[in-house]
Amino acid sequence: MPAARVPWRPVVGVAAALVLVLPLGFLWWTSRLPSTYSVMEMGYVDLGGGPGTAQSSGDRAGHDGHGMAGGVSVAELTGPRQGGPDVDVTLVARKQSFRLASGEEVDGYTINGTSPGPTIRATVGDLVQVTLVNRDVTSGATLHWHGVDVPNAEDGVAGVTQDAVPAGGRHVYRFVAPHEGTYWYHSHQVSHQQVRGGLFGVLVIDPAGPPTVDVDFAVPVHTYDGRRTVAGRTGVTRVDAAAGSAVRLRIVNTDNGPLRTWVSATPFRVLAIDGYDINGPGELSDRVVVVPAGGRADLGLAVPAAGSVRVELGAGTAVVVGPPGRRPARSPEPAAEFDQLSYGSPVALPFDPSSPDRRFEYRIGRRIGFVDGRPGFWWSINGHLWPEVPMYSVVEGDVVRMTISNTSGDVHPMHLHGHHAVVLSRDGVKSTGSPWWVDSVNVGDGETYVIAFLADNPGVWMDHCHNLQHASEGLVAHLAYEGVREPYLVGTSAHEDTNNEPE
Ligand code: C2O
Ligand code: CU
Repeated sequence: MPAARVPWRPVVGVAAALVLVLPLGFLWWTSRLPSTYSVMEMGYVDLGGGPGTAQSSGDRAGHDGHGMAGGVSVAELTGPRQGGPDVDVTLVARKQSFRLASGEEVDGYTINGTSPGPTIRATVGDLVQVTLVNRDVTSGATLHWHGVDVPNAEDGVAGVTQDAVPAGGRHVYRFVAPHEGTYWYHSHQVSHQQVRGGLFGVLVIDPAGPPTVDVDFAVPVHTYDGRRTVAGRTGVTRVDAAAGSAVRLRIVNTDNGPLRTWVSATPFRVLAIDGYDINGPGELSDRVVVVPAGGRADLGLAVPAAGSVRVELGAGTAVVVGPPGRRPARSPEPAAEFDQLSYGSPVALPFDPSSPDRRFEYRIGRRIGFVDGRPGFWWSINGHLWPEVPMYSVVEGDVVRMTISNTSGDVHPMHLHGHHAVVLSRDGVKSTGSPWWVDSVNVGDGETYVIAFLADNPGVWMDHCHNLQHASEGLVAHLAYEGVREPYLVGTSAHEDTNNEPE
């Protein structure tokens, strides 16, 4: 009887298929996230050329998986626990259908019954106390103080600086208003849905002393279900002001993409970016100001003697400032863009960025792979897909230089929590104007920004894209101070039925 013939062709075929499939299967398997994890265990430690060990960042070597004996816990890095607040606000978050100020119905989220929520105003140095009450947001909620460099435990990031507040729960935030300027607050729990749905509001911190303008108006711009709004209304928003009035418009971009704004037929100045005043802002006309997602721009102008000013905010929205009844026409978008890189006059920085203690790279690309078991064309950071991303590690007092580059084919408004950074250069061209302080910087495709900051606010801080859809797709890294311990976990929380999901 002849020996059974081995059907070698199919065997080779199967082997070849396995050679292809097994690595893919491996990539898929390893990309799957454990359902619960500490951000300290994600990815790899990047020391940026400074001292430390790969294990030294926070509590990575912790015995119980996310804690380390010694060091300080994020939960201890609070604002003042004692003392009566100067500003005391209760914000009630709800998931509901509601009407915009202009009447259209939106199915989303409200704070104290409206979206945007109430504008909070404080004076620099005030002790601000905000009680978040989560009435019925079943996915949980938090409040993050975007651009306000608060102590870490007040930063409001679910799974990083606190547990998400479950429906029926509350959480008290307390911090001393650190710096005058225009800021905003928003949920940092399932933020790509909750912020888009309206869980946000404006926070203005005034300088001490009498007001310097006649009209000071906050202009949060938000798109609800495809409808662009200004302070919650579609179309034209009127602000009454006498001819000659000095006006400060605080534009806040709460959407995911860049906002293009311009002033019709009246000279203006850019008074501040991301809450920080420009030094010696010159007069501008016929310029588009591009406000990055999450970013703010304060415009200063005077109402002309013969009419009103119209500030365009896109998609049919505008703010008209002037005496009642005047209706200036819409003007076309100017061709030239305002460029902060050479605007205003230089002034000494509070630290010397020329010989930094750490140099980091935040290289944004895009590649095929798996994120959390899902195949796709994903954002990459330094070539890695989330969660294999860098954990930037610093020591308090470090001067840090970070090079953010982007070859991903899309714009990314990059937002570092807890710090303001100064732009040193863009595409090799040095900043020559006023110091350009940012917490949200638009890094366009093909662009490279070099920024610098002082590591003066210990904690674990998110450093992510503020196109919140992109963040939920993995364009998120963190900055951690050595010796800070992370007690919170993403994917679970101390509250039953509420999982921390910051993005
Ligand atoms: Cu405005 Cu990490 O957020
Ligand atoms: Cu992005």
